[in-house]
Amino acid sequence: MARIIDVRGRRVWDSRGRATVEAEVVVGRGSTPLAMGRAIAPSGASTGSGEAKAIDAAAAVQAINGRIRDALKAHSVSDQEGIDRKMIELDGTPDRHRLGANALIAVSLACAHADAAARKVPLWKNLAGTRRVAMPVPQIQIFGGGAHARGSVDLQDYMIVCVGAGSFAESLEWTARVYAAAGARLAKRGALHGVADEGGYWPAFKSNEEPLAELVGAIADAGLEPGTDVGIALDLAATQLYRAGAYQLALENRGLTSGQLHAMLMRWIERYPIVSIEDPFAEHDAAAMQAFTADAGDRVQIVGDDFFVTSEARLREGIRLKAANTVLLKPNQVGTLTETLACLGAAREAGYRAIVSARSGETEDVSIVHLAVGWGVPQLKVGSFARSERMAKWNEGLRIEEALGAKALPYPARRLFRAS
Ligand code: PGA
Ligand code: ZN
Repeated sequence: MARIIDVRGRRVWDSRGRATVEAEVVVGRGSTPLAMGRAIAPSGASTGSGEAKAIDAAAAVQAINGRIRDALKAHSVSDQEGIDRKMIELDGTPDRHRLGANALIAVSLACAHADAAARKVPLWKNLAGTRRVAMPVPQIQIFGGGAHARGSVDLQDYMIVCVGAGSFAESLEWTARVYAAAGARLAKRGALHGVADEGGYWPAFKSNEEPLAELVGAIADAGLEPGTDVGIALDLAATQLYRAGAYQLALENRGLTSGQLHAMLMRWIERYPIVSIEDPFAEHDAAAMQAFTADAGDRVQIVGDDFFVTSEARLREGIRLKAANTVLLKPNQVGTLTETLACLGAAREAGYRAIVSARSGETEDVSIVHLAVGWGVPQLKVGSFARSERMAKWNEGLRIEEALGAKALPYPARRLFRAS
């Protein structure tokens, strides 16, 4: 059994040029090093208030090199739950602000990598064990707005889901075509203004609905059938829109009540091939989530991101209220892999769907792809189809799909989105 010999923290930089924290966990038998695992904490811009708190990167490094290292030395690296519980206990705060959620997630993930490395198997395989797994279906951003592209459209993510694709690789092929087509359309009308934080085109539009029509146009330009081949997924990140008692659409110079926003979304579902809507209402607006799920939940995925913040307790409350039907899993929202898995377990128990997701501030770290495959989570969201912190993850998915080969379970896109 491999035990932890050393834990090291390092201050590194993310895709927005901001400091973040990397952890390395060295494991061995006795004092002989056998393997090393490494992971980097991501960070969000549209964070939910219920998220575990990241601390200053230098302070997180200090926590790793001090208290966390002391606590984890000699611990069996295969005991992920024991490792995570120890760090949670050591932190001792409900929001992990003492050691920092960024320190915790970097170490938690680095331990998972070290365990896999000691066993000489890829992380996804170590997590899956003897279970057969499928490749996850990507949600890929084409236009990025909201907090990720200030002064543009109010909605955060206009994404596509290749609902008719037969493999992960085919989903990426189709996405490349749609992404290029969307860029060409913008260029044609002189509205190509670079990309937002996650690599989606910076959207220069007059209304929040216009990108939907553009997306349908881009899908068709790419030679694909909107709705049949490629569906649309939205993330409103609506907590960011809520001010002074209303959902503010600054671009359109108007504020909407929950009821008006609900009606607008229902109209959009009628008009466009929308298959998934994330955070349609603010994190506190459970009544609106409930009403929207009752009206639209049998037609589209309704995803809670800021609404659930990967918290098992918040998810269980949502399940009780029948609010949303899908949970977004961002390990750094809660701090450890064990707590992320507990949230996934609660979702599965209740028949809720799950999506593993990156953050808007990312790095070359590709751990989340392994988590989605290894845990058998059928969907993956990592931003757009540009910038290497995103492409590193899509490309890792291609490698995993190739390694799985004929042993993979059927690709779940059609089952998830075209069942009826
Ligand atoms: P964040 O946004 O990482 O900035 O919180 C991503 C999302 O809302 O899904
Ligand atoms: Zn979100």
